[in-house]
Amino acid sequence: MLSELPRYEAYRVPYQSKMGVLSVLQYIQETLDSSLAFRGECKGGRCGTCGVMVNGKQALACLEPIKDGSTIEPLLGFPILKDLVVNRDYVDERIASIGDLALRRVDHRARVLSKPKLEQWHEVSKCINCLLCVSACPEALADWQRFAGASFFVRLSGADLDSRCRVQVAQKEGVYKCVPWFKCEKVCPAHIQIVAHAFHPLRAEIAKETDIWKRGIARRIRYYFEIPDYTSWFSQRVFKISLKLLGALHCRGRRIVRIKAGEPVFGRYEGGRNDGRNND
Ligand code: SF4
Ligand code: FES
Repeated sequence: MLSELPRYEAYRVPYQSKMGVLSVLQYIQETLDSSLAFRGECKGGRCGTCGVMVNGKQALACLEPIKDGSTIEPLLGFPILKDLVVNRDYVDERIASIGDLALRRVDHRARVLSKPKLEQWHEVSKCINCLLCVSACPEALADWQRFAGASFFVRLSGADLDSRCRVQVAQKEGVYKCVPWFKCEKVCPAHIQIVAHAFHPLRAEIAKETDIWKRGIARRIRYYFEIPDYTSWFSQRVFKISLKLLGALHCRGRRIVRIKAGEPVFGRYEGGRNDGRNND
């Protein structure tokens, strides 16, 4: 229907000093057009609901000052529900799923955070879930089904989860798809260093978790069958026995190869028909 196609409306608003985009929208709604729809709750950059495009750039309406002739549009990359209100469900539902993962934790012992980990946690906990970073990211806009976007990974890196859970989810949601363009950091109102404090720690955790030779085969077995940590003694034993078995098989293999090659070996084959000296 023609009436449902996106269109621009022009409004004339009396300017007051230090006026922000959200104040302008409120003025329009109260005075000029009561049907105008937009989001905005805290008016102080805390709730993360008022993200819009101002002159083609992602911004929080409550923090962005208005300029003469400004154009305000809904947040890029999200389906429009009405006017400036977009549907955030595809990101919000993914972020909500992180809470469910916390219930799957196997190891409930208290942990002491190291200083770098504490600093990283401090940084990512500043996120207000405004989704400006998702809207500014070319990778998320190109394929949001395979890349959950920066806000998701910020939340994931700060969540209190089992390492193996976090690693699994990070890989599934496309942590390696971040290039990085750093466009997310440029628009983030909380000034979070997203790449350094979310993507890099997650990738380091994946490398640590999947380093099979350093962590041992037994740990992999625990990982797949979700056996808690108190089996570490048993796992180490299984790992050592597996290594001994592998070593024994390796020796046996070498012996067979040598016999086939016709070289002299110790024991019952010495001087036999494979010994070159008996062929005269
Ligand atoms: S990381 Fe920054 S831009 Fe992204 S949702 Fe959090 S506060 Fe908003
Ligand atoms: S109104 Fe809450 S962040 Fe803008």
